[in-house]
Amino acid sequence: IMAEKGGFKHFMLKEIHEQPRAIRETLAGRVSLDDGRVYLDPTKIPDSAWEGFRRVVIAACGTSWHAALVGKSVIEELARLPVEVDYASEFRYRNPLLDEHTLVVVITQSGETADTVAALREAKHRGCPTFAICNVPGSMAAREADGVLLTHAGPEISVASTKAFTSQIVALYLLALYLGQHRAVLSAADVRAHVEQLLALPTKLEATLGQDAALAELSKEFFRASDFLYLGRGVHFPIALEGALKLKEISYIHAEGFPAGEMKHGPNALIDERLPVVMVMPREAGNPASEVRYEKTLSNLQEVKARDGCVIAIVTEGDTQTATLAEHVIPVPAASDALSAVLAVVPLQLLAYHIAVRRGCDVDQPRNLAKSVTVE
Ligand code: G6P
Repeated sequence: IMAEKGGFKHFMLKEIHEQPRAIRETLAGRVSLDDGRVYLDPTKIPDSAWEGFRRVVIAACGTSWHAALVGKSVIEELARLPVEVDYASEFRYRNPLLDEHTLVVVITQSGETADTVAALREAKHRGCPTFAICNVPGSMAAREADGVLLTHAGPEISVASTKAFTSQIVALYLLALYLGQHRAVLSAADVRAHVEQLLALPTKLEATLGQDAALAELSKEFFRASDFLYLGRGVHFPIALEGALKLKEISYIHAEGFPAGEMKHGPNALIDERLPVVMVMPREAGNPASEVRYEKTLSNLQEVKARDGCVIAIVTEGDTQTATLAEHVIPVPAASDALSAVLAVVPLQLLAYHIAVRRGCDVDQPRNLAKSVTVE
């Protein structure tokens, strides 16, 4: 069993550590610095359709739905297409507005989630081109969609998803670049610059995994907490949601994720000296939108401090400003705003893992949860 887990105590920890490799596999053969292009496997969607999409709708469940929210930012930014994100279980029982100029994307690690497969079928039934981001070749979603981007993260055993999530974000980034190049919104030079950043990501992830021991240490202080709050802005809001989900799934601690700007509309009432607040706040120097979000989040941090909250901040290396204010600071390597989401989730996965281990929970098989929900 230990051999199956590659020497790690749990599949979850093994899979967290596999993320650099998973992402190398997601990128392999799909990006080229030579001609500044992204290549996807052939799809049944004609080139003319790729050029003419007016809208993207993404449907998913659970952790995959959080990846979809990151994907919305990335696709809107890089391909300049409006994106809507739906829970698959909501999409399938609504009467969504769809036409042939809408690309419907489903994201599903297993490719077998009942609601997500139903959403895919509903979209096909209504004549929309469909595209699946999926980790399991030959799964239902991979077989039925008009186009498929396999994440190639390798089998994910732990119920709590980790490497599938980060590889989904990278897959969405590739899809955004692909749409951008087809719509002539991105030049070859633009695509090349993004590809360079993607190729640098696995090494940065390796550096981030070096925080494992620090997070194990941090878990000693927080494993008895009964509630956690996670806050972030922009792409770091879905990362806050994902951090909260990881913690509740495997440690059974109640946790909520919120956009940092929404604190004053409710979550502020929860803050006291017993509430750990995880603030996801990497910053991309020289990116004005990222800088603004960072400054705003920094003032949210000050509000948490004013109410005696205890802050764990995920920051970009070298952020001394935050370090003077937060009780605990976990640095991640500098990266573009979108890719810092991939780096920032890793400490949250590790924090949830170490807390769950300390609480004696069954990390790989949490109570009441299944790896894939194939019946409603
Ligand atoms: C279950 C799993 C989650 C997963 C979700 C969606 O709830 O426990 O980890 O995110 O299903 O699964 P999918 O295979 O569609 O991504």
